[in-house]
Amino acid sequence: MNILCIGDVMGRVGRRILRDGLAELQKKYSIHFTVANAENAAGGFGLTPETARELLSYNIDVLTSGNHIWDRQVIIPYFEQSQRVLRPHNFPPDSPGTGAVVVPAGAGRPVAVLNLQGRAFMQNIDCPFRAADEVIPQLREETPVVVVDFHAEATAEKLAMGRYLDGRVSVVFGTHTHVQTADEQLLPGLTGYITDLGMTGPHDSVIGMEVEGSVARFLQQRPVRLSPAKGNPRFNGLVVEIDADSGKCLGVERVNFAVSF
Ligand SMILES: [Fe+2]
Ligand SMILES: [Fe+2]
Repeated sequence: MNILCIGDVMGRVGRRILRDGLAELQKKYSIHFTVANAENAAGGFGLTPETARELLSYNIDVLTSGNHIWDRQVIIPYFEQSQRVLRPHNFPPDSPGTGAVVVPAGAGRPVAVLNLQGRAFMQNIDCPFRAADEVIPQLREETPVVVVDFHAEATAEKLAMGRYLDGRVSVVFGTHTHVQTADEQLLPGLTGYITDLGMTGPHDSVIGMEVEGSVARFLQQRPVRLSPAKGNPRFNGLVVEIDADSGKCLGVERVNFAVSF
């Protein structure tokens, strides 16, 4: 079974990359299941029901997210309508939405997707490691194929999560930094891993935002209003081959290419 994991979809440019090219990519890699991080899909900040529906219509099975999921309050009622949009699971228990779902996939076995968020240099939400311990056995009762999006800032926290979950899930991929890491690997317990998938969006930018305003923020130490950049659209992600009977990962291939439109 081949699973395509797509790095943070950034605004209109990110959505267009998928609209124009996802079907071909899924065909090229014989993809059975697709997951994309969509926390920046609506104008760079958050996700609206419209952008969620648009992305799901491109044959994406589950949308994960992260710290930006609360930027657009209109997404909150949508959590009740669609099981396929996740927020990080380790937000406090009464938060709207859910961070884990099991959905049917094209290759015999259903796929569980778990979205977690890190705490190093981020908000102090509940422990993502203990949250994983609690929910993974429940997911594994339904399917051996478990995909984890760990939305986190710190490389070490992401590597630690990969090692902590090694042998218990099929793949752990990091998101949030928008810069793809070149450390894709098969961990000893046959869990696929990459520290960050990168960003599907405009790379002539500072993590997806226009350069001038982003630099001004650092120079002037004030919250300059930023808008999404446009240039150098690139697709970033990871293809993961999984044995659907055991849930073990057989191989990972990093994907990173330029798109022109
Ligand atoms: Fe992001
Ligand atoms: Fe993020």
